[in-house]
Amino acid sequence: MTMKQIKKTPKKFVIANWKMHGNLKQNQALLEAYVKTLTGLKNTQVVVCVPYPYLAQAQSILQSTDIAWGAQNLAKNEDGPFTGEVSVLMLRDFGAEYVILGHSERATAYCESDENIAQKFMMAKKYGVTPILCVGETLIEREAGVMELKVGKQLDAIIDLYGIEVFADTIISYEPIWAIGTGLAATPDQAKAMHKFIREKLSAVVAVHKNSLKILYGGSVNPQNAVQLFLVKNIDGGLVGKCSLNAQEFEDICHAAELSAE
Ligand code: PGA
Repeated sequence: MTMKQIKKTPKKFVIANWKMHGNLKQNQALLEAYVKTLTGLKNTQVVVCVPYPYLAQAQSILQSTDIAWGAQNLAKNEDGPFTGEVSVLMLRDFGAEYVILGHSERATAYCESDENIAQKFMMAKKYGVTPILCVGETLIEREAGVMELKVGKQLDAIIDLYGIEVFADTIISYEPIWAIGTGLAATPDQAKAMHKFIREKLSAVVAVHKNSLKILYGGSVNPQNAVQLFLVKNIDGGLVGKCSLNAQEFEDICHAAELSAE
């Protein structure tokens, strides 16, 4: 078996969030299509975050490629009597290198507090799994002009508990909740303003660990808007839901990232 190939410092990331979609047969076709068209990209790290039961399948199909895989959540504890939870060590058993944390679909449906998410963030870091922290505002918050306040508070939940340095070697995905699954992505200007805010807030980390903090955009990314969004200076790629389930659309998005990084 060939060893897992790791890209040293990819300029861009494109991360598929499959959410609760797929089955063994469909996944196999989709992963094989990813492998066919998306291996060997120079500037872009492709990651696919699958439902837990399919981690083994992702591992078996992707392990000898440069496409990485991960999960969409983890438990805040290492092990113990937590029925239905999945620990970071279990993710590691299946070679997962990334985990999405704090996605708004979880935060609202399962009442995840910012503090809970902060604990999960540290648990992932402790075991070398890269957290992909989702932050973002609702439409009401945007209309009220308090979007930076909201995102700032989500970041502060981690900074207050663990300090700013923990953001080194992590990924943040700015996902305006009103843009997720709606077909209505943020405009490049809206995304640019928020990415600038996040980067400035975390400037202490950015200054010391130059390329180690990636800030992605998520929310109705498609092959068309990806071209413009990925050209924005502070946008390091995208977290892609719906379009990641379509091999051709996901390929086009990854190629948009690759081109934007040249
Ligand atoms: P979407 O999902 O691309 O379907 O809007 C993005 C996400 O929820 O991460």
